[in-house]
Amino acid sequence: MIEKEFIPQSYSNTVEKGSFTWSSPSNIALIKYWGKKKNQIPENPSISFTLSNCKTITTLSFSKKENTNTFSFEVFLDGAQKDDFKPKIETFFNRIEAYLPFLKGYHFKIETSNTFPHSSGIASSASGMSALALCLMSIEKELNPNASEEDFIKKASFLARLGSGSACRSLEGDLVVWGKHKSIQSSSDLFGVKYPCDVHQNFKNYQDTILLVDKGEKQVSSTVGHNLMFGHPFAQERFSQANTNLSDIISILKDGDLDKFIALVESEALTLHAMMMTSMPYFILMKPNTLEIINKIWAFRKETNSKVCFTLDAGANVHVLYPEHESKSVLEFIKNELVAYCQNGQYICDVIGLGANKL
Ligand code: DP6
Repeated sequence: MIEKEFIPQSYSNTVEKGSFTWSSPSNIALIKYWGKKKNQIPENPSISFTLSNCKTITTLSFSKKENTNTFSFEVFLDGAQKDDFKPKIETFFNRIEAYLPFLKGYHFKIETSNTFPHSSGIASSASGMSALALCLMSIEKELNPNASEEDFIKKASFLARLGSGSACRSLEGDLVVWGKHKSIQSSSDLFGVKYPCDVHQNFKNYQDTILLVDKGEKQVSSTVGHNLMFGHPFAQERFSQANTNLSDIISILKDGDLDKFIALVESEALTLHAMMMTSMPYFILMKPNTLEIINKIWAFRKETNSKVCFTLDAGANVHVLYPEHESKSVLEFIKNELVAYCQNGQYICDVIGLGANKL
């Protein structure tokens, strides 16, 4: 599949105005995307669990306008106008205009809200950009009703990627791969695909409790972060390691080998942070409480033989991952021993989900 194939030939219908609403979840990478080439092409393949409760709900209202020279849109978060969201959306529109040639023909009202607190340190770009991409695709579907369901999702993921790389992994569930990998035939650098191989029952309804350690503004934006991989002394090693890890996770997921899963996932999280610590400039995005939590998880695992583990995003919050049947004991452990390290005692219970929904 090449980019050109996402450029529509012509539209059979016209539409004056309307409105679509989509809800789209966040996702948590097991093998991390860190480093990208031009046009949002990832340096290495990644795989994520789609989440369920952490999501963005976006309504896109549109009406035809006279002037077709510029983009015209307004953005609202929880009912309040959000002009500081506009530059990111303008960049997104610029990147996708070639693939959605109707964009300058409408005025858009984008109304969005998240199920998680906005300043929780949970990135809303994956859920937000995927929800917006899906709303735009719903307009295209009106203009071209013959497009297949499969092409719809593929193009929505392709567009979401141009908004934010990880967003292309939020449309479907419960595991999504993005980035070309030799052992996954359908994989592509251009969009996320549903993980096509066998997954053991052990991973069914896998739990993710997100511990909010630091709800402050991101210290390193993802754009700055990915750029740190340019000229990074360990970049090539890291990209090839991610490829090896993806090869390895295929049998881990198939066999349900939770010990190997834990080792791979925790190593990925720490490697992501190691990349930030060893770039120039360098950053430490973990907080003392992040480390306290990690050590507590390791001690708990040793004492109880639990299969609980952690992963991290590019920040201080900790995603605590565990099998469904351990929910009771791990939640008790979280409440008794980990909540003390969360800002204002806040955490969010989530579970692996199936992707976006049209409302
Ligand atoms: C650490 O998808 O936020 O969460 O493409 O610049 O928008 P942009 O980056 P973004 O990067 C996410 C990085 C990560 C790892 C991951 O989700 O794979």
